[in-house]
Amino acid sequence: MADLEFLDRILTMEIGRCTEAAAVAASKMIGRGDKNGADEAAVAALREALNKLDIDGTVVIGEGERDEAPMLYIGEKVGTKKGPKVDIALDPLEGTDLTAKGMGNALAVVAMATAGTMLHAPDTYMDKIAVGPGYPDGVVDLDASVEDNIRELAKAKRVQPSDITLCVLDRDRHKHIIEGARKVGARIILIPDGDVAGVFHTTEPATGIDLYLGQGGAPEGVLAAAALRCVGGQMQGRLVFRNDDEKARAARAGIKDLNRKYGLMDLCGGDVFFAATGVTNGTMLDGVKWEPGHVTTHTVVMRSKTGTIRTIRARTRR
Ligand code: FBP
Repeated sequence: MADLEFLDRILTMEIGRCTEAAAVAASKMIGRGDKNGADEAAVAALREALNKLDIDGTVVIGEGERDEAPMLYIGEKVGTKKGPKVDIALDPLEGTDLTAKGMGNALAVVAMATAGTMLHAPDTYMDKIAVGPGYPDGVVDLDASVEDNIRELAKAKRVQPSDITLCVLDRDRHKHIIEGARKVGARIILIPDGDVAGVFHTTEPATGIDLYLGQGGAPEGVLAAAALRCVGGQMQGRLVFRNDDEKARAARAGIKDLNRKYGLMDLCGGDVFFAATGVTNGTMLDGVKWEPGHVTTHTVVMRSKTGTIRTIRARTRR
């Protein structure tokens, strides 16, 4: 078998091909008001692409539990089985509604890591806090108040709290976060959907986003952690359960301590590769563009071991 280092390098690029395929398929559904159709198109394309890879892959973050999802369900085996054992976290279409409504920042996302190193997050919510690279460890904390987190981050950045920009999903459940941020005068970017992109935005100074806070999907939390592992940054998460069914999902995923505060390494601790392709135009990635005879995609591929970040614009004949 090929040397693992070599395989790593190949696979990093290969998962970019997979997210490209998912994004192109989903792009045909932009603005059609059919979020499930858009998701199904992305899932089918991603599954086909993953099955071409020389990996012995297991989906650990997928489209849902086996009986809920016909394809790319948690536990599904993907790849030719001729390569290394890897865990795969995926969201074939992060931002189904964004795609259906033709709004920005929808992505196709895949992370691949050494088997057994990603949290098997159940399909529940997760409280999340994240900052980009360059701050002292523990500069923000999930258990601190919104105001204190903003003040501490401002101190570390040597700016005023009013110079801090916070990104949060526009949801009623985040009223307290918005109120806290307003109290200290921070700027708030409210996003309609897509908290993998939201967390990822903290890593890129050009977005102007310093801090991500709030409750979103737990699977998306693991994907965002995979991205942060490659770029640098800090993140904490804690699962949120609304009912017994969600607690049972956690038990099935092997989670014993329901109140555990997960750090970045608990969410995604091994060597990880991450790829995302823009479906609709976004702050960091352009969306899929169809032109006569070809389609253009914009993808970022990253690897935690080396910290290499590549952005790829691919033009494929159609
Ligand atoms: P989908 O692409 O699966 O629709 O998820 C979009 C999303 O905004 C995620 O990014 C986020 O984690 C979650 O939904 C938030 O859930 P809710 O819409 O229930 O607040």
